[in-house]
Amino acid sequence: MDNLVRDWSQKHTERFEKEIVTFKHGLNETGLFTDEALIELLEKHPHEMIDVCTMGDPEHPIYPNRFRTGDFRNVPGEVILEAAKAGKVWINLRKGMNLHSEYKEVLDQMYGDLGSQISRKPYNANGGILISSPIAQVPYHFDKTHIILWHVRGKKRIYIYPENETFIPDRAYEAKMLKYLDDDLPYKAEFEREAQCFDLEDGQAITWPLNSPHRVDNREFCVSVTTEYSTHQSKVKNACMVANATLRHNFGIESSYRQSGPVQRQLKSIFGYGLKKAGLVPTDDTQDLVTFKIDANVQNYILDTEPYQRNF
Ligand SMILES: [Fe+2]
Repeated sequence: MDNLVRDWSQKHTERFEKEIVTFKHGLNETGLFTDEALIELLEKHPHEMIDVCTMGDPEHPIYPNRFRTGDFRNVPGEVILEAAKAGKVWINLRKGMNLHSEYKEVLDQMYGDLGSQISRKPYNANGGILISSPIAQVPYHFDKTHIILWHVRGKKRIYIYPENETFIPDRAYEAKMLKYLDDDLPYKAEFEREAQCFDLEDGQAITWPLNSPHRVDNREFCVSVTTEYSTHQSKVKNACMVANATLRHNFGIESSYRQSGPVQRQLKSIFGYGLKKAGLVPTDDTQDLVTFKIDANVQNYILDTEPYQRNF
């Protein structure tokens, strides 16, 4: 297979992980993201690694504007894909790029090609495959690891915001690391003034500095691959955030990641790793309730059910 990372220049290398970078890729030439290939993948990917979701309509009596989890068991892959195309459902195949040899080979080449461009060892990356509906939106959020979005099919618009205390306060970061605090990343309409907006085309990839907040609007049925990887920088930062959140929550000690120097960060991160190892960090035990089933015989393929704990 030809190089999968294309249109990469020295400028890209200089800006990689420091600024927003876009480049071209060859994923749509692998044949792994056609309807037929995706149907096959939906049939063989482990159930517990697939999320089928929708967003509650604003008028829904019980679930207005809420993420909802669906049951897709015993539904043929073809119908699940049709449901996504019909408009209200999106599908995330977690580790879709890792668990099957033909996809893993491509993932390894993506990072191998990237690694040789930037003269670094290939990363240990995870890759998910997102199949989403024309109206799917991913609200304002940030990710704890480095992300590259490899857009494969459809029109997708992404908004990326500056990575600073206004857009992503340390406390909101800590809240994501632990579950002590309110989970939402605070969003204000005025943030839009500083957003950078990109209309992604088939075969275009985009990446941004670690933790930059972003949100996504689909314009039509979309298929994309999201890869994530950790670096020394992201690991130290995350451990440090755990330490700060614990100090604040348990001992009332205020400390800020942004205002710490490198030595302080390093020490804090060791403390954070220790807390994690000792099992003193609460784990995410939020319940995942299933509230609908995919059903080809109802409107939008969404059949509301009595809520039950996800067990698949
Ligand atoms: Fe994200």
